[in-house]
This record gives sequence, C-alpha cells and structure tokens, in this order.
Amino acid sequence: MDNYITLCKPTLSKALLSIGLDKKYFKASGNYLYYRNSQGEEVEVLDLLGGYGATLIGHFHPQIGSRYKDYIEQKVPFHNQFSIREGAGELSTLLNSRLCHETNYRDGFQFCYTSTGAETMEIALKHAEYARSLELNAMQQQLKADYDSLNPQYSYHLLPQQERLLGVSRLASSHVIKQALVRYNTEQFNKHPIFIALENAFHGKMMLTANCTHHPMYRAFLRCLNIETRFLSAHVVNEIVHNIEHHGLWGEALQPEVIDGVIHLKPLIIRRVVAILAEPVQGEGGVWPLNATVAEDLNKLRDSLHCPLIADEVQSGSGRCGMLVAASNIGLNADYYALSKALGAGYVKIGVVAIKKSHIASGFDLIQSSTFGEDDLSCKVARDYLELLFNGDDPLIKRVGKISEQLGKILDQLKNRFPDVIKDVRYQGLLLGIEFNDVAESSSYLMQNIAAQRSLGYIIAGHLLNAYNIRVAPSGSSENVLRFEPSVYLEQRHISLLQRGLERICLGIRYADVGFLLRP
Ligand code: F0G
Repeated sequence: MDNYITLCKPTLSKALLSIGLDKKYFKASGNYLYYRNSQGEEVEVLDLLGGYGATLIGHFHPQIGSRYKDYIEQKVPFHNQFSIREGAGELSTLLNSRLCHETNYRDGFQFCYTSTGAETMEIALKHAEYARSLELNAMQQQLKADYDSLNPQYSYHLLPQQERLLGVSRLASSHVIKQALVRYNTEQFNKHPIFIALENAFHGKMMLTANCTHHPMYRAFLRCLNIETRFLSAHVVNEIVHNIEHHGLWGEALQPEVIDGVIHLKPLIIRRVVAILAEPVQGEGGVWPLNATVAEDLNKLRDSLHCPLIADEVQSGSGRCGMLVAASNIGLNADYYALSKALGAGYVKIGVVAIKKSHIASGFDLIQSSTFGEDDLSCKVARDYLELLFNGDDPLIKRVGKISEQLGKILDQLKNRFPDVIKDVRYQGLLLGIEFNDVAESSSYLMQNIAAQRSLGYIIAGHLLNAYNIRVAPSGSSENVLRFEPSVYLEQRHISLLQRGLERICLGIRYADVGFLLRP
C-alpha cells in the first residue's frame, strides 16, 4: 500500500486513481515533469498545470538555480529572525519601485512577508481588520470624552426616531438617556464586520480566506463562525455603488453635541466593511478576467465605504498576466496587493502583502510575524526572479504576451470549430481557460452520468495526460473549465501537441464517445 494514499489523502487519491491521474512524478525540469510507467520507463509530461501558476519560468530554471546554489554555498541565513534582514529589504526595494511604476502610486508601499498564498491573503485581511479596529477605538475614545464632558444638568433633545432607537421616552431623565445612549453605541460598535468578495472568488483555504471564497464546499461548514462575507456579481457591485445606503454596510452611532445648553444627538457612521477583495483575473473560479468597468466600480465602492481594496494577485501577479500586478491592466486601484506563487521562481515558498504607506496601521509589524516569513534565502531568490523577468533590453516578461497570443489563437479557433462542445475561451497572459458545454443533455447515458458526477474536466485531464502526456487540471470550483498555466518557455511544438489533443477530445465529446475519452 502506498503511504501517501493511506497516510495523507485517502479520498483524493481514490479519485486520482479512477481517472488515471495517479502518477508519481520523480523529476521536474523546464516545461516537464517525469514519471515512470509500469515498465519502469521514464515518461516526459508537458506541464501546463504549472504548479497552479507558480512555475512561470518552468521547473528549476538554470540561472536561478545557479544563484540558489551560490546562496547555499555562501550559507546565506535562513533563520535569522528578529534581526535586520537584508534580503527582505532588498526585495522590498525592488518590489516597491516596480509597484509604484505599474500602479502610478508615488508614496510607496510597506511589505509584510509570508510563505503561501492563503497566508498572504489571511495577513492582508488581518491587517485590514487591525486598521479598522484602531479606527473604531479612536471613535469610541472620542465618544467617551464626549459623554464625560456632558454637564449632568443639561437636558436632551431627542428626535422621535432616536427615542425609538434608544428605547427611552421623552420624559426620561438625562441620566437614563445617557445610559441608554452608551449601551446603544456599544452595540453599534460591536456589530460583526463584513467582508466583500466577488462571485467565483478564490482566496485560499484558511478560516478567513475560505470564508471569502465563493464555492460553498470550501466554507459552508464554517457558518457557525459567523463571519459575514457578501459575494457580489459585477451587476450588484454597480447597483450598490449607486444605492450604497440601502445595503446595511455600515453601523450608525449617536454622538452628543451641546447646542445652547441642550444635548442633541448626531449620527456617526461606523465602518463595518473590513475590505473588498478582488482577483484581477480569477483563476480557481474558472478563469474570469475582470474588466475595466467592474474595476472602476470596485474603486468607487471602496471610496464610498472608506475601506481598503485588496487585489489578490497570488495567481494573476508576479508576471503571469504580463505585469507584476494584473490590476494595472484594468485600472483596479488597490490599496493592498497580495503576491505569492510565481514570485518564488519555482524554488521557494514566499508570499508578500504590499500595503500603500497611507494605509499602514502603525504597530501591525509588532503583532504580525511568521517563523518562515522574510528569510534571506527566499527573498534573494525572489529578487533574482524579478530581475530575470523584468530587466534587460529584451525582458523575459515580453514572452508572456507573445505566447498568450499564440496559444489563445489556437483555443479561439477550437471554439469556433466546436461551438457545440466549447462554451467559452477566456485568457489573460499565461492564465488561460476553456469552458466546455455541460453534457447533461447529451444523447449518451454515460455522458449524462459524467455530467451528474461533475467529472467532465477531470476525464479530459486524464485523457490528455495518458494519451498525450500533457498535464492540466480543471479549476477546482468550476469543473467544466480546463485551466492552462504554461511557462514563458512554451514552444510551438507544445502548442501543436495540445491542439491535436484538444481536437480529438472535442470530437470525442461531439460524438459522445465516452470509451474514447476514458481510453489512454
Ligand atoms: N489566492 C488566489 C487568487 C489563489 O489562486 C490561491 C490558490 C490562493 C490565494 C491560495 O494560495 O494555495 O498558496 O495557499 N490557488 C490554487 C488554485 C489553489 O487552484 O488556483 P495557496
């Protein structure tokens, strides 16, 4: 019995086995992963899954590898926590200038380092709630000073609606009204916070990030934690921008104000929205690039709610969509940018939240740290990666657009040839997706079964792997979407191979030839 199957992923492994994805890769290099077949022969597999977007420059890029070896030989420290960490400083300098350049924001960013994508988003959300709590504390202190300065002899002038809110009658004493006011305001400040995310969002699988991830399978079981996330469609974002006051997105305290010896109460808005989260190109949710109109609406929503806008660039950033941050492509003017995945160059685990200096909540760096964040080795590798990608007369990043165009053209052609099979093709940079039509209405009973089990994408992935030695996977939340995240070194012959494989698959689906799809 295999220990991975028994000790790590018993349920998933069974699924992998049933569709022929149960390979044991023992080597990775460039565009390829390698496994041994039942005869013990080495099989080379074209990797288009790309570490869920992490291997933009392929596996074990030689230039990065030789620097990596140097660092190991030089014994560059990994565990030098609680000191002045040069690697993180150098990487931040580079990220700062690139981000300022791409986002047109001049005041600079501050950086908080992590190890994974979900951790990066979790820390972004944590910072946002920390900042909100400081804001609310300051307001509560001000209110306390206001209550304390009230002359007990003064009477209140309450509007009928305020009497209702406080649950007091017009004839109540000033003392009773004050008590009711303090109680009412405390309730307003204690209202639970709200996160705003988009439909099809994916932000990770930790408690908070899973709760901000749209697919119910990731979060339904968390409902008793009572974390409110509102998932908005593009249409609803626009609707809220125009009718913001009708959506219960803020609380309202009552602030005493003395006018001519009489205490009046004026409304004081309390921010309930911690942050708005958006992936400039949604990956896991089925490859959905945001358009400039939605981006503009999100900018406006942020302005109205006075909360930060967080661009989750864990997948779309670090060059995958042709820029350090894909937000710049569509005018999404975020306050925080989360990066991870490809930033580690395929060698190291690294993530970082870049926060505009104007949005930094002071003291956060004292309450946030991670044993594996900021290590010199990972930071140096990430810095080498960014230099490789963006520096020089003919920077590597240019290949993103070139290959995207070539591969996108082939996928578009397939869509035109097989409109009965392919519903849509979507891409930005080297994050591409094909959405297949649902086969629930197929004339074949077996096809209907595949639809019922939501396994079309997995069966296609199994066929591409076993018949063409191409590794892909459907996006987790959208099983009819095949996602491609190739490296910048993808060649024409790879594209042709994929084209041949997809053509045969489209024919197989068109003629409901399930036997063909399941045969290697
Ligand atoms: N944010 C985005 C936009 C992601 O795509 C992912 C992961 C994460 C956060 C979490 O990163 O896995 O390092 O903790 N996406 C993978 C996917 C799992 O299938 O696209 P992580």
